Amino acid sequence: MTVISVPQEFNAEELYVDLRPSLGRPLFLKCEGFNFAGSIKVKPAVEMVNAAEQAGRLTSRSILVESSSGNLGVALSMIAASKGYRFLCVTDSRCNLSTRLLMKALGAEVHVVTESDPQRGLLGARLDFIHGLCASDERYVWLNQYANPGNWLAHYRTTAPSIARSFPELDVLFVGAGTTGTLMGCARFFREWHRPVRIVAVDAAGSVTFGGAPGRRMIPGLGTSVRPPLLDESYVDEVVLIEEADTIRACHRLARHGFLFGGSTGTVVSGALDWLARHDQLGLTAVGIAPDLGERYVDTVYQANWVQGLYGDEVLGSSELSVATR
Ligand SMILES: Cc1ncc(COP(=O)(O)O)c(C=O)c1O
Repeated sequence: MTVISVPQEFNAEELYVDLRPSLGRPLFLKCEGFNFAGSIKVKPAVEMVNAAEQAGRLTSRSILVESSSGNLGVALSMIAASKGYRFLCVTDSRCNLSTRLLMKALGAEVHVVTESDPQRGLLGARLDFIHGLCASDERYVWLNQYANPGNWLAHYRTTAPSIARSFPELDVLFVGAGTTGTLMGCARFFREWHRPVRIVAVDAAGSVTFGGAPGRRMIPGLGTSVRPPLLDESYVDEVVLIEEADTIRACHRLARHGFLFGGSTGTVVSGALDWLARHDQLGLTAVGIAPDLGERYVDTVYQANWVQGLYGDEVLGSSELSVATR
């Protein structure tokens, strides 16, 4: 029996899906969605809040503020509620409606930015809004997940050692890149490990993180329009870029087997399957990280009209997707 008294105390750290029976490739998917915030972001949220408290930056007068595409916002809403802080999440129009409602249900304020900065996109506009707030009122405390070392340290201390314990023969790890906190924490841990592990970053096409040209991206979680300051590419062995149509195909393919994962998991799985198809798989131990579950995406990734309107009929036309069109 597990008994907790604050929501951030619980996280299922050791759950994996073996995708070989359903997708035919040797890939274990680490499921990070089983906690009260519903995503991997509970770990950096706890780490960054604790560090700010210990440094004396966060006090009972403070108002936490953070820019988030959704999941860190939900995790901080939960922690702020449990600790009695006020919290304002600055997000943008791509944030799922259900995610916004979740934050509000947890007592957070949500500000939705709708106008892009011409060069730095919606993320740039979110950051400008936060800079303005912090300059206007000293009670605002911005954890800044894009540059806060607590973001990658959380994964260096928890996610990566847990994978290492479960897979002592690990050869390759597939990690989606948003702020690159997960990627950098895992990559730093495995660089110091006793065995070489290939670190493959999976990003959305249209993201500028690894130097690509900016393009339209509609699925929250992965990709950036401003290069993440946490990223140190010398730790990354390979980068795979995935089109959003392929992300959706992978999500729907998993759903056909009863596994409803979030959008970024579709990107990671699609990237991992591509990579595994190009490499000798014999005896390879491969793990991918699934940052959240699919319920928050039922009105986007899993909704026929949304998919059709943005990506055309071809995506919906595939036999794998028929369930979503019913
Ligand atoms: C659904 C989802 N996937 C992936 C990520 C990327 O994780 P990271 O910011 O550690 O790169 C996030 C980050 O918010 C996310 O919400």
